[in-house]
Amino acid sequence: MLELKHISKRFGQSKQFAVQDVSFSIPEHEVFALVGESGSGKSTLAEFIVGLQQPTEGSIFWRGAPIQLQAHLQRHEQSRQVQIVFQNPDRSLNPYWKIKDIIAEPLILNKWTKLASQRKVEELLERVRLPHELLERLPTECSGGQKQRIAIARALALEPELLIADEITSALDPITERDILSLLSELKRDHNMSFLFITHRLETIRGFADAIAVMKNGMLLEMGATEDVLQHPANAYTKSLIEACYDDYA
Ligand SMILES: Nc1ncnc2c1ncn2[C@@H]1O[C@H](COP(=O)(O)OP(=O)(O)OP(=O)(O)O)[C@@H](O)[C@H]1O
Ligand SMILES: [Mg+2]
Repeated sequence: MLELKHISKRFGQSKQFAVQDVSFSIPEHEVFALVGESGSGKSTLAEFIVGLQQPTEGSIFWRGAPIQLQAHLQRHEQSRQVQIVFQNPDRSLNPYWKIKDIIAEPLILNKWTKLASQRKVEELLERVRLPHELLERLPTECSGGQKQRIAIARALALEPELLIADEITSALDPITERDILSLLSELKRDHNMSFLFITHRLETIRGFADAIAVMKNGMLLEMGATEDVLQHPANAYTKSLIEACYDDYA
């Protein structure tokens, strides 16, 4: 459903590529994990997909149609179908708004009536397994894990087909992280969603991601079915990532 072809990016006058000749595709109903150390270009790729930035070279296709060249209406429809959740909920949730208004914002912008949006917000809250009493609170009155669930609920409001999760569990403790991953698996199973799951921690994706792509210095080093890559890494860098993650557990 999503296809990136030979994407490269140079920022400003920089001679170095932040992203260099990256190609991959995400089939329907798949969790595709993008793994790599800080600065490897993961978020930059995510920003291309949602149109926050333009690549210097290459093209991105959503259901066969190029993403940058869309007419306004189609672009609008594309941006509904692909949503993104970022690492830091404090930067993405307005601290002065109640949770019910934060989750309802995309609905109101899409001209939903007040009653319909209220009902939808309640359904979304249930879907991300948050208690009803949170609706009247401000983000500062919620935990980190709750705030990420709120960001996910808002991203789900318009029923996207692909959710990009950019390091959404990196700031959470392992138990909360596991709960959020199980929530995403549930969304995949019950709502046929696909995910681009970005992380620098390899250990989070085992049993969750169908496929994995490993990035370093803007380049894609290795890609394949998750278990194949984890069991038989072809690239020395992937091997070192795997070893580092087991060292952490030892
Ligand atoms: N707006 C920008 N202007 C100039 N350089 C940028 C810009 N955004 C990103 N970069 C550079 O592009 C490279 C890739 O950054 P990116 O944020 O995509 O990495 P990342 O893999 O998401 O890292 P992290 O795991 O820390 O989030 C980095 O060298 C970064 O400094
Ligand atoms: Mg990033």
